[in-house]
Amino acid sequence: MELEGKKIIVTGGGSGIAAGCVRGYVRAGAQVVFCDVNDEGGKTTEAEANAQENVTGKATYFHCDITDKTAVQEFFAKAIEIMGGLDVLANIAGVERNKPAETFEEEDIDFVMGVNFKGTVWTNQEAYKYFKANGIEGAIINYASDTGLSGMPNGAVYASSKAAVLGWTRSIALDWAREANVRCNCVNPSIKTPMYKYWLETADPAVVEPYKAGLKQMFPLFGDMGEVDTDLVPVMVFLASDGARYINGQVICVNGGLVMVR
Ligand SMILES: NC(=O)c1ccc[n+]([C@@H]2O[C@H](COP(=O)([O-])OP(=O)(O)OC[C@H]3O[C@@H](n4cnc5c(N)ncnc54)[C@H](O)[C@@H]3O)[C@@H](O)[C@H]2O)c1
Repeated sequence: MELEGKKIIVTGGGSGIAAGCVRGYVRAGAQVVFCDVNDEGGKTTEAEANAQENVTGKATYFHCDITDKTAVQEFFAKAIEIMGGLDVLANIAGVERNKPAETFEEEDIDFVMGVNFKGTVWTNQEAYKYFKANGIEGAIINYASDTGLSGMPNGAVYASSKAAVLGWTRSIALDWAREANVRCNCVNPSIKTPMYKYWLETADPAVVEPYKAGLKQMFPLFGDMGEVDTDLVPVMVFLASDGARYINGQVICVNGGLVMVR
C-alpha cells in the first residue's frame, strides 16, 4: 500500500474532491481524520470510506469550521491524538459565490475569503506547528484554482481568494522548507463535483452556454472536466507519498490542459 502507516488530515471531506480523497487515502492504507461543516456529508464519507473491502486504512470524521482558529486547533489536537501523529495535511475545503463584481458586499468577501484563505492559514499553521516541533518532514497540499491565475467571470472574489492561496502556498514553501524540510504545494483541479454543479446552475447563462459549447476547445484532453476517483485521487495519493518528497512550491494542475502554468 502506497500510504501504509501515513497519518493524514483532510478538510472538506463531506463532499466532492475531499470525499474522494478520504476514500482514496483509506484505500492506500492511510489513517485519515477529516472535517467538514456538513455533518451529514461527513458521516456518509466516513461510512463509505470504512466500508471499502480489504482496506487497512481508517477514516474518522469530526465537525470543524476551518474559519474558526480555536476550533481548528482543537480539531488538530484530537486528530493527532487519535492517529498518534501527522504526516500530511490535505486542505481541500472551499466555497464559491458568483455574482457581478460590482455587487459583492462585505459579507460575501468575509464568507469566501474566510473559508478559502483564512481556513488555509489556520489549518496550515497547525500542521506546521506539529511538523516543526516533532521533526516531521511533512507535506501540506492546498487547493487553489486556475481562476486564481486566469480570473473568473462572475467570480471575482472566489478567484481572488484562490490567488491568495497560491501566494500563501508559494511563500510557506520557501519558509517552511528552509526551516524544517516541510513541502507545500497547491492543486488546481478541474473536477465534476457539487461545487461545479453549483457553478453551472448559478453562473450567468451568457457565460455557461458558450462554456458548454466549447468544452473540447477548453479541455483538450477528453473535452470535459475530470472525474474525482480516476483523474484526481491518484495524483493526491502520489502527492501524499514519499515519492513526492522533492516537489515543493508547485502548482499542480489536474485539468486536462485547461490552463498551463509557467
Ligand atoms: N471542482 C473543481 O473543478 C474545482 C476547481 C477549482 C478549485 N476547486 C477547489 O477544490 C476544493 C474542493 O472543491 P469541490 O468541488 O470538491 O467542492 P464541494 O463543494 O463539493 O466540497 C467542498 C466542501 O468544503 C466544505 N466546507 C465549506 N466550508 C467549510 C468550512 N468552513 N469548514 C470546513 N469545511 C467546509 C463543504 O461543506 C463541502 O463539503 C475547493 O477548495 C474548491 O475551491 C475545485
